Amino acid sequence: MFPKTRMRRNRLTEGRRRLTCRITLTTDDLILPLFLVEGNGRKESIESMPGVCRISVDLLEKELEGLKIPAVLLFAVPETCKKDNKGEAALDSAGIVPPAIRQIKQIKPELVVITDVCLCSYTTHGHCGIIDEKGRIDNDASVGILAAIAKVHAQAGADIVAPSAMMDGQVKAIRDCLDKNGFIDTAIMSYAAKFASSFYGPFRDAAKSTPEFGDRKSYQLPPVNRREAIRDALLDEAEGADWLMVKPGLPYMDILNDLRQRTLLPIAAYHVSGEYIMIKHAAKAGSIDEKDVVIESMTALKRAGADAIITYYARELSEWLCR
Ligand code: PBG
Repeated sequence: MFPKTRMRRNRLTEGRRRLTCRITLTTDDLILPLFLVEGNGRKESIESMPGVCRISVDLLEKELEGLKIPAVLLFAVPETCKKDNKGEAALDSAGIVPPAIRQIKQIKPELVVITDVCLCSYTTHGHCGIIDEKGRIDNDASVGILAAIAKVHAQAGADIVAPSAMMDGQVKAIRDCLDKNGFIDTAIMSYAAKFASSFYGPFRDAAKSTPEFGDRKSYQLPPVNRREAIRDALLDEAEGADWLMVKPGLPYMDILNDLRQRTLLPIAAYHVSGEYIMIKHAAKAGSIDEKDVVIESMTALKRAGADAIITYYARELSEWLCR
């Protein structure tokens, strides 16, 4: 027996579907990652990530022209000669990221500038923290440098700093350092639940940050553990994070959803490089409809609890959504 009130979904008109639609993906949900290099007039395509380029700071104005997305996330890709064991070049206010922030604030002051705070693209060994004599990550020394980098970014005008190194206590150290230096309005978006994932491969090629030895399993989260990820994220909240992030996106939607139930902070989902290229390559092969798959994927991330989505598709997606 059917209940009398059963839904006749198969007969709903478009108007009735719109009335009950709970998730709407908009351009306002998107954050566009940008890879920045030194020099002038440089725009290099990235072999591992079709459609994504590394650009020099002077080309930012052209890059941002007509962009309708509210925020960008900046990554620096310094030359190999600038790298050392401690990633000191990240502290240079004349380096890559600080001038880029100043430039963006001049040409598009309303654009929210988020900066990646990590050592991996600045260290010769490619790890996200400093390595001690025994070849282990020196957590506390790393945290000190990360806080100093965050301060340099805040000084240049960053709205949000996004520590991605997964060092213990990094959020508290950054918050303390920012407050002590008067940057009380600079927010922290913590890569709180960042898993040791194989989906980062193309990014490491783009950012030239592949670890020279070992892997990132001693500081990034084990993909098998859900509770540990939630605990880490809640610790970051207690340390003063303004935003939490779950990364990668689609393979970790359960974590996103769990975290959504447990925090009142906004959450960003990072649809990472590996997820991006899987869609790109499948679309290039003519196997899927790129636009439909991207919109469905991002809508799913919102449904699972994301307030914002970091995606290499941000520009294309905003064009698709505005049409
Ligand atoms: C740096 C960092 C990584 C990504 C963002 N920040 C790489 C890593 O942790 O190895 C990956 C992003 C992506 O794959 O799109 N710590």
